[in-house]
Amino acid sequence: MDRVKGKVAIVTGGGGGMGRVEAMLLAREGANVTVTDLDESAAKNVANEIQSQGGKAIFIKHDVAGEEDWDNVIRKTLEEFGRLDVLVNNAGVILYKKIEDISLAEWRWLMSVNLDGVFLGTRSAVEAMKKGGGGSIINIASTAGLIGNPDASAYHASKGGVRLFSKAAAIEFSKAGYGYNIRVNSIYPGVINTRMADDLRKNEARYKTALSWHPIGRFGEPEDVAYGVLYLASDESKFLTGSELVIDGGWTAR
Ligand SMILES: NC(=O)c1ccc[n+]([C@@H]2O[C@H](COP(=O)([O-])OP(=O)(O)OC[C@H]3O[C@@H](n4cnc5c(N)ncnc54)[C@H](O)[C@@H]3O)[C@@H](O)[C@H]2O)c1
Repeated sequence: MDRVKGKVAIVTGGGGGMGRVEAMLLAREGANVTVTDLDESAAKNVANEIQSQGGKAIFIKHDVAGEEDWDNVIRKTLEEFGRLDVLVNNAGVILYKKIEDISLAEWRWLMSVNLDGVFLGTRSAVEAMKKGGGGSIINIASTAGLIGNPDASAYHASKGGVRLFSKAAAIEFSKAGYGYNIRVNSIYPGVINTRMADDLRKNEARYKTALSWHPIGRFGEPEDVAYGVLYLASDESKFLTGSELVIDGGWTAR
């Protein structure tokens, strides 16, 4: 209990999938949470769920690809909770297509959410975290940011970008960099049972192949990732920055 007591956290894409479970776990462990999502009613439901369990949460409609939306998220979080300690850049989208079938508009849309969103979030959080003496930024990448596979190249490119952006940010924000005391780490989930995995189920062959990638014999659950987020958000991980937390049922151990 109380592993992040008194901390203030923002979770993007917190209205569904992993983001919902991450937000609820952080709140259960004592954090005040801003739940943001493109889907406002989904974010509202999660904030209500947290409040009904005795936690503190607000919800904000938010497109992570929108610069002004980020200003609003930081301002409202500071107005409500007075500080910012943790940012979970969780929102993300996927596109299953052969490279030759991807339009430039589709490529740019995916990058705008998965990569611009992480950059904008990180840039937006810095000032508030510096004022509070430091913080922890947690970027949800994917095994797709570590290895390649067919039919999701834009997704792989975006998550590979998140991986090295996170490391570069970790060094800039460290004591040896600009001295901000902000840690930046990234998480690499295998396939996790959320709406994103439902997309995979639409193609039986792709689903079976993806299952075979996991030596542990199953896909992950949102909790499997949320506990990683909790660890990186808490002071228990105070010696970790620029690190890669792989939560993939052994997929990339081969
Ligand atoms: N599910 C998996 O198998 C898997 C594996 C590895 C990594 N990931 C990553 O984990 C993160 C969460 O994925 P998930 O499986 O929970 O997905 P999900 O589709 O279940 O939930 C994503 C949430 O993000 C929100 N969202 C989408 N676009 C947004 C935007 N532009 N701005 C704000 N919110 C937006 C959606 O409304 C939704 O609530 C993503 O970054 C994803 O790439 C997922």
